[in-house]
Amino acid sequence: MNIIKTVSTTILALLLSGGNVSYANEYSSEQKAAMAKEFADLFMAFKVSIFKLQGHINNPDIGDKGLTGAKMVEHAKREYRELTGRDFVLSSNPDLLSAQLDLFQATNSIMQKMAPVINRKGLGFKGFITAIFVRMVAKEFSSRSSRWNFKFTAPNDLLRSQANAADNWESLVFSDKFRQANWQAEDNYSEHTAAGYRWMMPIYHTSVCLSCHGGPKGSRDITGAIKEGAKLGDLAGAFSIIFSDLKTP
Ligand code: HEC
Repeated sequence: MNIIKTVSTTILALLLSGGNVSYANEYSSEQKAAMAKEFADLFMAFKVSIFKLQGHINNPDIGDKGLTGAKMVEHAKREYRELTGRDFVLSSNPDLLSAQLDLFQATNSIMQKMAPVINRKGLGFKGFITAIFVRMVAKEFSSRSSRWNFKFTAPNDLLRSQANAADNWESLVFSDKFRQANWQAEDNYSEHTAAGYRWMMPIYHTSVCLSCHGGPKGSRDITGAIKEGAKLGDLAGAFSIIFSDLKTP
């Protein structure tokens, strides 16, 4: 409900602002990179929220866990503050705003879809881990958004799910940029391509990842998948965004 209220308030605010719409082709590369980073920060806040909620989700003693879309937005806003040191605000930039709202809606729709699993009493581990949340929300978001598209991906030799496979451009960014010895871990990569503006942020393994992606190599993680034997700080994959160009009539 809260989400719907937020959306309608925002649409109203937009209408009242006199339809002051700017066109994406007018954004500089720096502006597009800032928009992508801002969106990535918000998504990371959702991702961390689901990670921190794993104990609650997998608690067999509770039925209804209360994890509605609105509740997730609340959690994510807290994590966003933790992550960025800033309070989350809906953007005055209409293209970023639509990405923020579509992400809220996509999360809401996935939480609704997964509620029967999440709220199942008597069942412990439910398989609704962070990576599954990420894949589902990324797909839902990308089908909702007219211009934005995002996914988590990994180089082919590290890939777990074919659904997250890197395309040619992403594979080249892995091999020619992120895997080069002199690549700075905190640097993102962006380029204007035929598909539009593309932006990629490398993701590295931290200690919390290694229970599933670490060693011993070849053993199985809690999901039953084979562990890759990754080490702290190893490249895990990337957060990949496409912001497509405005179609000229
Ligand atoms: C509970 C086990 C678990 C933990 C903990 C975990 N992952 Fe994963 N990860 C998975 C599974 C399972 C998949 C495949 C999901 C799917 O089917 O889309 C995956 C997929 C991924 C992908 C997408 C590419 C691919 O291989 O399909 C990336 C990137 C990734 N993980 C990075 C991380 C990072 C970074 C962390 C720590 C912050 C982490 N993972 C923690 C189990 C885990």
